[in-house]
Amino acid sequence: MTGGFRHEPVMLAEIIEVFDGVPAGWLVDMTLGGGGHARGLLERRPDCRLLGLDRDQEALAAATTVLAPFEERVVTRHARFDSLHDVMAALAISSVSGVLFDLGVSSHQFDEGDRGFSYRFDGPLDMRMDASTGPSATDVVNGYGVDELTRVLREFGDERFAYRIANAIVASRPVRTTAQLAEIVRDAIPAPARRTGGHPAKRTFQAIRIEVNQELEILPDALGQAIDALSVGGRVGVLSYHSGEDRIVKHAFREAATGGCACPTGLPCGCGASPTVRIMRPAKRVPSAGERDRNPRASSAILRVVEKVAVTGVAQ
Ligand SMILES: C[S@@+](CC[C@H](N)C(=O)[O-])C[C@H]1O[C@@H](n2cnc3c(N)ncnc32)[C@H](O)[C@@H]1O
Repeated sequence: MTGGFRHEPVMLAEIIEVFDGVPAGWLVDMTLGGGGHARGLLERRPDCRLLGLDRDQEALAAATTVLAPFEERVVTRHARFDSLHDVMAALAISSVSGVLFDLGVSSHQFDEGDRGFSYRFDGPLDMRMDASTGPSATDVVNGYGVDELTRVLREFGDERFAYRIANAIVASRPVRTTAQLAEIVRDAIPAPARRTGGHPAKRTFQAIRIEVNQELEILPDALGQAIDALSVGGRVGVLSYHSGEDRIVKHAFREAATGGCACPTGLPCGCGASPTVRIMRPAKRVPSAGERDRNPRASSAILRVVEKVAVTGVAQ
């Protein structure tokens, strides 16, 4: 945690260990946030430089302060992580040794009521990570039809009362504030179900945030760009926080590790697929019980890592 920007980096020791094993060169932090992971990596790897991206200007400003002691080895850019290739081209970086994704929002974004991410503070319905562009939560909540809202709540929030909530939202328009939305959701959920599973509006807020920021839509392309950018022996590590994200990461890593080979299991590959990475074991790591107790944000974290291999032309 740093100054006014409160965010404790998740699985910091494990992340440092992952990038301990990569060649010297550029490390990319695709989700710089408060710079907690980035600082740990810069301390541990004096032979590496760091390129940090974030789509949130407030996060970039906070990270710049935290990373000031390392400024000769740090470059930051206000960019979405699916523009990695463009950012690298502009900086004449041809390959990188490591790429970290720490997905989702930071504690800071949640805690700033005027960013509109949280049901805990009243504020405008915004939820944009990049507050300078794109539709906001107001547009989704007041513009989508019942069917579209139901889909968003089901797909991105696993909300079993999605249809009831969507109907309640449409009936209450215009909805302008986070407190108003939280109340509509609470009233739409049957009383017995409200008593379990945390705050009744948690899943709805998560779903709308994911929709507003197109979080799942841009992830596959960004993972592909990250794998492409690696030099041999370089690694991509991804921390995800819910099942939708983790499914995408697992699928992208499996595709890269098999080269998309669809030959029957147990038979030698005859389709000429060529793996570009190997999956680091264990394939799925989670935080220690101590970290989960100390930092509730860590409780749902899953870490997956792949390492770039030399192209052999034969799938394993
Ligand atoms: C969980 S926080 C990262 C915290 C950071 N690892 C640390 O130690 O402080 C996620 C950050 O990623 C940013 N972010 C999320 N999606 C992004 C995207 N598609 N492109 C760039 N930044 C993104 C958010 O704005 C937020 O600041």
